[in-house]
Amino acid sequence: MRIYLDNNATTPLADKVRKEIIKVSAECGNPSSPHSFGNRTRNIVEKSRIKISELLGCHPDRIIFTSGGTEANNLALFGAVASFKGKHIVTSVIEHPTVINSVRHLQHSGFNVSWVDVDKNARVNPDDVLSSLRDGTAMVTIMYANNEVGTIEPLQEIVEGVRNFSDKIVIHTDAVQALGKVDFNIDDLGVDMASFSAHKINGPRGIGALYIRDGINLNSIFKGGHQEKGIRPGTENVVGIAGFARAAELAAGDMRISVRKMQRLKERLKKGLFEKISGLRLNGDWRQALPNTLNVSFPNVESDSLIMMLDMEGIAVSSGSACLSGKEGASHVLKAMGVDPVPAGGSVRFSLSKDNTEKEIDYVIEKTAAAAERISKHSGRVK
Ligand SMILES: Cc1ncc(COP(=O)(O)O)c(C=O)c1O
Repeated sequence: MRIYLDNNATTPLADKVRKEIIKVSAECGNPSSPHSFGNRTRNIVEKSRIKISELLGCHPDRIIFTSGGTEANNLALFGAVASFKGKHIVTSVIEHPTVINSVRHLQHSGFNVSWVDVDKNARVNPDDVLSSLRDGTAMVTIMYANNEVGTIEPLQEIVEGVRNFSDKIVIHTDAVQALGKVDFNIDDLGVDMASFSAHKINGPRGIGALYIRDGINLNSIFKGGHQEKGIRPGTENVVGIAGFARAAELAAGDMRISVRKMQRLKERLKKGLFEKISGLRLNGDWRQALPNTLNVSFPNVESDSLIMMLDMEGIAVSSGSACLSGKEGASHVLKAMGVDPVPAGGSVRFSLSKDNTEKEIDYVIEKTAAAAERISKHSGRVK
């Protein structure tokens, strides 16, 4: 059996997306060229923008294509700097490294930063965000849903509070993990900017988007031509954009059903693991959470050993963020939640998809319990 439970890192390309990509890759033409070849690809780009805007809940003009979530986050933070009304940024300590490292860069160049803590379930308290605001606050950036533990942040409350404080503060959210898993309308949410990535919704890797509310001025972080209103110059990734659009269409079509199915499978997985493994600890909020994400700490188990043993059984899981794995030791998210470093070292993220089955989940429970028992028996750790 080969079972993929690392969908927060990336998702498999949907068959219909692959077909779309193959079809569009046969088209030759630069969307900026005036001839019919160019027009055909321009049409593909603009029709794709419409389909993606339907999933996001905004006008197509509000979408700028980027090379993915990383670039969208960088564009949001560095592109908005010139229009900032102050030199203070508010963010949380559990953001994705793309936001954390961008904010750190701004901090080194003279910005003051309020790093808002989270509670034991990785939830940002809106009051902590609001009490950090001051006259010089230029931007608030808080992720919509955490990639490692799946906690959904109280974004609506944060947006309302920030708007009551000042209408000059730019609000950004990294919504990469929320797309396709949380039912939202980005216009209604009231943020100024939001980042998205196609490969988290069974689309291609290397394509994403930044939502930019009307009236927000953004400078390009690249110097180049007029594409994407000059905000993101460079010949458009037509194939990627078309694949993103097809993935968005599919996600919009079956979101309710797939969310319910992922939730059901996640509950089955949690129940099975907790029944079979004593001392297991759930990381993250259980109720305000992504329907597909289960992060647990195993007593006396190194996560790397467990991940390797599961890999040998054909099961793919991860220890948290794919961007960090094997690089920085214990996760910054678990640390911020106050998870004891020993269990934090034995934390594993199971991130499911709508395509997983009950049979797969039962197999994963059995293999995980057996592997955890074997590792803990041989582990030198004290209980
Ligand atoms: C929350 C979050 N933000 C940003 C990114 C980066 O997106 P991309 O891989 O498209 O650059 C990821 C990907 O893991 C993510 O989970």
